[in-house]
Amino acid sequence: MTPHRSSRFAFLLISLSLALVGSALSHDKKDWPVPEEARTMTNPVPLTDAALASAKAIFDESCANCHGDTGKGDGPDAAMYSVKPADLSDAHMMSEMTDGEIFYKISEGRKPMPPFKKTLTEEQRWQLVHFVRTFAPKPAPAPAKKVARAKKSAAKKP
Ligand code: HEC
Repeated sequence: MTPHRSSRFAFLLISLSLALVGSALSHDKKDWPVPEEARTMTNPVPLTDAALASAKAIFDESCANCHGDTGKGDGPDAAMYSVKPADLSDAHMMSEMTDGEIFYKISEGRKPMPPFKKTLTEEQRWQLVHFVRTFAPKPAPAPAKKVARAKKSAAKKP
């Protein structure tokens, strides 16, 4: 190898390892693995005003200090932590999470978020699942026109 080549090689190695470290770090923050059997659980608590009211009281008491009154992750304690409390009003993020996933995350916690499985009953945690879903704007219903158009054009194809 010529000196020129080997320094290029070293540069490549360095960039590669930086990229790896970077992805490992962001992985840590973003990917919160939830076991399949927890992910697919459905909410056994009916969505009622009473359930939402009960959950709101719990949220204000136990969650809002980090997640903020409107779920944006901007509670008064948020700045104390190196990991920013999740923005529960993020419609995209929330639409990608199943009820079972939210339940699991509330139950188990992840630093700095504490686990709530010992301090809240299952029913309370499922009520919270309903409640945290109220922060994100409802995803727009599947645009009927577009679907109809897509079907039409699919039907046209030979
Ligand atoms: C001490 C601050 C703190 C408290 C109290 C807290 N959280 Fe969190 N919460 C966090 C942080 C930080 C994260 C992001 C954790 C991560 O991604 O590693 C998080 C993540 C979440 C998530 C998952 C979102 C995602 O990124 O997947 C949900 C749902 C959630 N919190 C709900 C709640 C509820 C409901 C309560 C109250 C019962 C609560 N949290 C209390 C700090 C807190």
